[in-house]
Amino acid sequence: MKFGDIPKIKALQTSAGFREHLHRLGMDMPCDDEVASGPGAPLAAPLTVGALTVGNRFAIQPMEGWDGTPDGRPSDNTVRRWRHFGLSGAKLIWGGEAVAVRHDGRANPSQLVMSAANQASIAALRDTLVAAHREAMGSDDGLVIGLQLTHSGRFCKPNDRARFEPHILYRHPILDPKFRTAADHPLMTDGDIRALIDDFVVAARRAWDSGYQFVDLKHCHGYLGHEFLSAKTRGGDFGGSLENRTRFLRELVSGIRAEAPGLEIGVRVSAFDYVPFKPDPSQAEPDELGPGIPDDHAACLPYRYGFGADEADPTRADLTETRAFLGIAQSLGIGLINITLGSPYYNPHLTRPALYPPSDGYKPPEDPLLGVMRHLETVRDLKRAFPGLAFMGSGYTYLQEFLPHVAQAVVREGWVDFVGLGRMVLAYPELPADVLAGRAVQRKRLCRTFSDCTTAPRNGLVSGCYPLDTHYKKSAEMVQLTAAKKAAHLA
Ligand SMILES: Cc1cc2nc3c(=O)[nH]c(=O)nc-3n(C[C@H](O)[C@H](O)[C@H](O)COP(=O)(O)O)c2cc1C
Ligand code: SF4
Repeated sequence: MKFGDIPKIKALQTSAGFREHLHRLGMDMPCDDEVASGPGAPLAAPLTVGALTVGNRFAIQPMEGWDGTPDGRPSDNTVRRWRHFGLSGAKLIWGGEAVAVRHDGRANPSQLVMSAANQASIAALRDTLVAAHREAMGSDDGLVIGLQLTHSGRFCKPNDRARFEPHILYRHPILDPKFRTAADHPLMTDGDIRALIDDFVVAARRAWDSGYQFVDLKHCHGYLGHEFLSAKTRGGDFGGSLENRTRFLRELVSGIRAEAPGLEIGVRVSAFDYVPFKPDPSQAEPDELGPGIPDDHAACLPYRYGFGADEADPTRADLTETRAFLGIAQSLGIGLINITLGSPYYNPHLTRPALYPPSDGYKPPEDPLLGVMRHLETVRDLKRAFPGLAFMGSGYTYLQEFLPHVAQAVVREGWVDFVGLGRMVLAYPELPADVLAGRAVQRKRLCRTFSDCTTAPRNGLVSGCYPLDTHYKKSAEMVQLTAAKKAAHLA
């Protein structure tokens, strides 16, 4: 399917039109005609997970804004975003955004850092969110807030937005050259890893002291926690067997349980990975990159560099180890799982289905609805295998007008427990509150997946919804973003 042939969601008009399009694509995606509101509605049902009771089924995904201060504290833009998370009406706030456990693990020089000096301001972010939530919903009953803790591994850029300072666990035959990691770049030693585990535990304790009810030990999107899971070619205590590759998680959990016994633990995991993608050179146009195709990998078979990727054909998933990982998580007493896919660095169409690529991205290799369905079906299959775990799903934003219809159907049918919203909340924070109250969805505010919130940070600017959030209208950042998009022939 060519880029211009992909129908825009808003052109489908009604749920009948949407369903017809799903049918043409051969997809059996659940979608309700009417979305219920009020206390008996499927999306309003509370759910208890361990010691936590979450007041409804909407959840907010972690999203960084590249807008903290150089020493890792929130800026006014960060506070504003967290206020919007509170106004959304969603009762599960998964992480807020990725917060580095120490400086060298930052994904960009503006990422928040959970240091002793920053603890009070990161606690205040939570307070802002709670106050906004009370204002919008009348009470904070059932509001559950976690903090996502991270080290960015091979994607660290702690000091300069344009320079990777990677921390790697093994040599990756495609990612090393793609991101210019030198062939002799040192691997993290087992001693380095143990010191990092200590830093995670200290950061988790700070999150607990700040009032966060859980921490997410991030295992997704190509960052360090995720890299452990694919460290099949690494020796020592943290590589090789699945037992060794999950030692990082197990040691984090035992350290956190000892230091912050009341703190719940969640994990956001990329359920599977594909081989990295690249723009197809044969379909490039003079001013535009081609659609994504898998990078050359014939020389890397069997592919021992992915988690949940089929070793014989890494353009396909194999969930055998993913299920084993979830079994380990469950045995560790982890009840909250947030499923995502792939990595925005090297196969973004898996992570966030979008119609428009960011300035350095490839065009969609498929109708993005296929990408949404991949998310939904993956969570459904894992939920069936682990009914006792609470699952949050990702990748819903591309559904646009039909997000509430599909969200209600998948919750009602037990495919997922929590509907996680990412980009939609940057564009239209009050969507969950509107749906829960039975108000009509404000179509002009729906995220249309223009990807400016990704293009901006790729060009050194703060992230945000430039097309729809009036905060950025006529701002200096907007002017710079437009110039960057013109240079990339996207404007
Ligand atoms: C601007 C931006 C920042 C993001 N930051 C994070 C992050 O800090 N941690 C994380 O796990 N995912 C992050 N993501 C991924 C989202 O959480 C989410 O998985 C993705 O956008 C797909 O969901 P959606 O279709 O609802 O947008 C980010 C996405 C965007 C667009
Ligand atoms: S910039 Fe706004 S409309 Fe575009 S993808 Fe991001 S949130 Fe959606």
